[in-house]
Amino acid sequence: MRNLYRKPTNLHCNAGSRCSISAVLWSVLGCLFLLHLYSNIDHKDGKVEEVQLRSSLHPQFRELQQAELLNIQIPSPKGKRSPRAAKRRPKRTTTLVDEFMDENSPLRHVFFPGNKSVVDPMKAAGNDSYYYYPGRVWLDTDGNPIQAHGGGILYDEKSRTYYWYGEYKDGPTYHAHKKGTARVDIIGVGCYSSKDLWTWKHEGIVLGAEEKNETHDLYKSDVLERPKVIYNDNTGKYVMWMHIDDANYTKAAVGVAISDTPYGPFNYLGSQRPHGYDSRDMTVFKDDDGVAYLIYSSENNSELHIGPLTEDYLNVTSVMRRVLIGQRREAPALFKHQGTYYMITSGCTGWAPNEALAHAAESIFGPWEAMGNPCVGGNKLFRLTTFFAQSTFVLPLPRFPGSFILMADRWNPADLRDSRYVWLPLIVAGPLDQPLQHSFEFSLWSKVSIYWHRKWRLPQGWSRFK
Ligand SMILES: *[C@@H]1O[C@H](CO)[C@@H](O)[C@H](O)[C@H]1NC(C)=O
Ligand SMILES: *[C@@H]1O[C@H](CO)[C@@H](O)[C@H](O)[C@H]1NC(C)=O
Ligand SMILES: *[C@@H]1O[C@H](CO)[C@@H](O)[C@H](O)[C@H]1NC(C)=O
Ligand SMILES: *[C@@H]1O[C@H](CO)[C@@H](O)[C@H](O)[C@H]1NC(C)=O
Ligand SMILES: *[C@@H]1O[C@H](CO)[C@@H](O)[C@H](O)[C@H]1NC(C)=O
Ligand SMILES: *[C@@H]1O[C@H](CO)[C@@H](O)[C@H](O)[C@H]1NC(C)=O
Repeated sequence: MRNLYRKPTNLHCNAGSRCSISAVLWSVLGCLFLLHLYSNIDHKDGKVEEVQLRSSLHPQFRELQQAELLNIQIPSPKGKRSPRAAKRRPKRTTTLVDEFMDENSPLRHVFFPGNKSVVDPMKAAGNDSYYYYPGRVWLDTDGNPIQAHGGGILYDEKSRTYYWYGEYKDGPTYHAHKKGTARVDIIGVGCYSSKDLWTWKHEGIVLGAEEKNETHDLYKSDVLERPKVIYNDNTGKYVMWMHIDDANYTKAAVGVAISDTPYGPFNYLGSQRPHGYDSRDMTVFKDDDGVAYLIYSSENNSELHIGPLTEDYLNVTSVMRRVLIGQRREAPALFKHQGTYYMITSGCTGWAPNEALAHAAESIFGPWEAMGNPCVGGNKLFRLTTFFAQSTFVLPLPRFPGSFILMADRWNPADLRDSRYVWLPLIVAGPLDQPLQHSFEFSLWSKVSIYWHRKWRLPQGWSRFK
């Protein structure tokens, strides 16, 4: 999220090759938007269509692979368009993404349904339903909207509890200066606990902003993003890594905090530019062998860097590999399945949503192969914008290998505290449907699919506790 160069629109390009790709993408979005002007979106009648059925998976996961399509009716426009108008290229400045970014858009309710005074849509579905409604307001067990943006989940073996950490953004959205991006002052890292991944109890702010000391990394007018927590089996400590920056995103550093418990308080240790490089969007990944890695966007978001952490997880080592060079990806979310590493990333367009990519690699250091857009269902615009959201974490589901939850953020730059959570089933199964760019030997990799659902729930028996 939040690319380096704030722009009024995201249509400028610096690198030639990227320019043509984004021009095509924006033209496509522009065309689709014109179609949209003649269409009605009806969420309630979302048609369910079975896109793919993988018999290798547990039957209870099949319902998750029934990708829901958005029912869009395109009535024929009344007056015929003049041939000249038909030839005219759509204005690039009016895309559905602009509509999404416009707080006065008539389509606002499509992107941000409901409002905070509405009953918890999850609870309204009934006790034993446990449905996720991507994009709607999610409440904690106290009835307050969950504040855990750009976050991730830790499963704590000791307490057999899930902990969800993220940016606590319940403050006013403002622009620090004319060219500045929309922001909320640092409040801290919110923490929520759950046994069932559905009811979330607020554990408080486990790492808070610094109110007075202006030179401190966590001073409120600075930036704290994408906190992730991993547990160190050797030291018995919970270690939090996060993106630390100033309001202009020029510091580009990574910070570390430590705690004896998953519910904090975390003690802030400091920040650095890892391996001497700028570091913005980031995540950490703990491998099966206990080695943890820091993955961050670097060289002004043009590439990703991956490096192992020290044994205590408190620092990087001198080992680092540059991957996805020149590809300008951010919001990395790593996961592993049957010995293969997978990653979901987004493009760099600030708060605006863009197309996700799945990547795979035999070694975490690469080479990483792009496997295309993993989004299935919804409609084309939903798939080109990752369902109007940006990846932040991929959580494996116990007992069902190959099944995961994709956690993504639907940012609301007009009111960042009201950004929404888009969680969807992510399934690694089935053959790839497009050739890999560079390699031929890894063709045994499975395809990564993220299935759109207006509402969905975890299958019976997914829980570790049963
Ligand atoms: C939110 O819901 C309340 C109660 O239903 C309504 O009065 C209010 O206008 C709504 N606000 C928005 C922004 O939709
Ligand atoms: C919800 O669950 C509680 C406790 O398990 C029960 O007492 C209550 O009747 C349930 N409500 C509904 C609507 O199912
Ligand atoms: C303010 O924060 C900086 C950086 O953490 C620290 O070196 C300094 O001692 C702090 N000043 C006060 C007055 O606490
Ligand atoms: C950020 O940039 C603006 C405009 O370029 C400048 O006025 C401001 O001082 C900068 N702030 C920081 C914290 O660097
Ligand atoms: C990153 O951007 C800054 C500010 O525009 C510039 O000074 C620096 O040279 C850039 N670094 C790279 C590696 O492109
Ligand atoms: C982290 O490691 C680097 C070398 O890899 C070292 O220069 C630095 O001092 C270490 N930082 C801390 C806080 O130990």
